Amino acid sequence: MIKPKSVEEVLETAKVEEVIQDYVNLKRRGVNMIGLCPFHAEKTPSFTVSPSKGFYKCFGCGKGGDSVSFLMELEQMDFPEAIRHLAKKYGIQLEETEVSQEVREEQQYQESLYLVNEYAKQYYQDQLFNTDVGKSVGLSYFKERGFREEVIKKFGLGFAPNKTDAFTLKATHGGYKLDLLKKLGLTSEYGRDFFRNRVMFAIHNLSGKVIGFGGRILVKDVKAPKYINTPETDIYNKSKVLYGAFFAKRDIRKEDECILVEGYTDVLSLHQAGIENVVASSGTSLTVDQIRLVKRYTENIKILYDGDLAGIKAALRGMGMVLEEGLNVKIVLLPEGEDPDSYLKKVGTEAFREYVTQQAKDFIMFQAGLLQEESAGDPVKKAKLIKDIVDSIARIPDPLKRSLYVRECARIMEVEEQLLVNEANKVVSQRFKKGQHEQERARLKEEAPQPEDVFSIPPPTHREKQAATGDEFQEKDIIRILIAGGGAVFDEEENISVAQYILSNIEDVMDTFDFPLYGQVAKNCHERLLAGEPVNTDYFLNHIDEDIRQMAINMLSSPYEYSENWEKRWEIFLSSQKMPDENFASDSTQALKRFKLRKLNKMIRQNAEKIKQLFEQKSDDYMTYLKLDQKLKGMRNELAEELGTVVL
Ligand code: UTP
Ligand code: MN
Repeated sequence: MIKPKSVEEVLETAKVEEVIQDYVNLKRRGVNMIGLCPFHAEKTPSFTVSPSKGFYKCFGCGKGGDSVSFLMELEQMDFPEAIRHLAKKYGIQLEETEVSQEVREEQQYQESLYLVNEYAKQYYQDQLFNTDVGKSVGLSYFKERGFREEVIKKFGLGFAPNKTDAFTLKATHGGYKLDLLKKLGLTSEYGRDFFRNRVMFAIHNLSGKVIGFGGRILVKDVKAPKYINTPETDIYNKSKVLYGAFFAKRDIRKEDECILVEGYTDVLSLHQAGIENVVASSGTSLTVDQIRLVKRYTENIKILYDGDLAGIKAALRGMGMVLEEGLNVKIVLLPEGEDPDSYLKKVGTEAFREYVTQQAKDFIMFQAGLLQEESAGDPVKKAKLIKDIVDSIARIPDPLKRSLYVRECARIMEVEEQLLVNEANKVVSQRFKKGQHEQERARLKEEAPQPEDVFSIPPPTHREKQAATGDEFQEKDIIRILIAGGGAVFDEEENISVAQYILSNIEDVMDTFDFPLYGQVAKNCHERLLAGEPVNTDYFLNHIDEDIRQMAINMLSSPYEYSENWEKRWEIFLSSQKMPDENFASDSTQALKRFKLRKLNKMIRQNAEKIKQLFEQKSDDYMTYLKLDQKLKGMRNELAEELGTVVL
């Protein structure tokens, strides 16, 4: 492990502009430097670097941070990796704490597994390109399927000859231990080659190391499986891997979208056609780990299904998890009997792209439409349908997005919007309560507290401090209510406290507080609630933290104030209505509405930016965003009206 002293030295030495200039062409612009953002596609630079403050910020996509977070984000490094990278760049000798014998051995073991796999990949490649049978059977198969040589090489495709133990013998003669070959699933228990007479697909991890293989049979054989894959090993965990992710990650981030297909060959085909933001789940249903992997690069996922309705319905049922992770899911149904690879070959790249763009449907709308058709004229089915949709919607962590969906679904399914709102709210608060119980259980189970890993959280070296603006006012208002009335009852029937109501509604924006102290308080309260502890005035007045205690006292003594800045900033005129001091239930609803109002305004501005961008790019997609614009503005105006404010 790197010693903290060394970490500090690196952080002090690294210059954000020098680090970024290795990736982005920066130009001076006054005290700052600007360039094209590496995190999203743009034509005019909105990526700004401030050498004096030591941070970068993109005004297009909102990404920002210091030199370390830049590397972590762009190269998907973890904190120690980024530090090591910087140390190398600046020629800093890192001091490390002693590693135990055990740890060193484990590292060496892991390394040797990768080495052996790399050797195997080269062996299969060599067989493919440099042997007669490899060329006539394997290479000609790939070529017949239309794969070009550069793609075959890039993805590490190969050929395993039809011999009992040719690979195993060669590897062991070359000094590779039989034991390791077996551990990697390359050699069977009895010393035979695991992959025989198959074309080979190397599977890479996110840093491009080979962790396993898939092998496809070349002849039609009903008895043998079409593909066999490396069994679970110490470095290959099927549920955590997405095929092609290493080659796709850059484009996924650039396009801000991940295309998900099922098969190895689908990935290859799309890639070859210039669609590089694509990964495969390799025939299994998606796992949480795979989704989180996607989420490191984008929140938008487009799933390409071959058009078999039964299969799709099964797949839809597994989608809740994806929604829970906050991803935006679109579905593209391919024509009956086609997979992405075959359809692409049939219609060509242009038509394929067009099809995928035009047919992409929002997942929830897709589900609503599908079920609506099915349940037409059948009230029992319809009730079930509402339940299913509400269940999907309730999984979306963003309350604002939830309400957008509620509207749209109510329209598609021809039911009262309020009905869906009520149903969804029930499910949301049930989930919240369930979450509490689970956390409680986890807490009880956890015995000794784990020692803190100093490297797990990058220290906030140069955090962008935002000036206290109007945002502070709304955040303060939320906190004020938590302090003054967090313990009050919000909904008697459902047994929900004001704190529970507020915090469950801002769970998703907990990290976006502009004012750190308020954000911290909100987070602490949330944790307390999850741990089943009360959040009320007493808690704050007896808080161990002097700052928070003081803040509580101040807030309780001056219960209400408006910020002038807030009015100006959001161009909103607040009428001088009085806030009922003791009515915390309605008080908190108001505060939340203002919170959402702010979020809506932000979304409207972001959306406008997007429209402008797409319009300039002559992409018809801007129509969709125009619609969203109308919807957002409608919601904003409604909210503003409810709040007794006027939108100028
Ligand atoms: P498919 O049967 O759709 O194959 O399986 P494919 O990818 O289109 O392959 P081609 O075009 O026939 O060559 C989709 C994925 O499911 C996994 C593989 O990862 C495959 O790419 N699979 C399929 C298996 O692991 N084992 C099998 O027997 C079949
Ligand atoms: Mn196929």
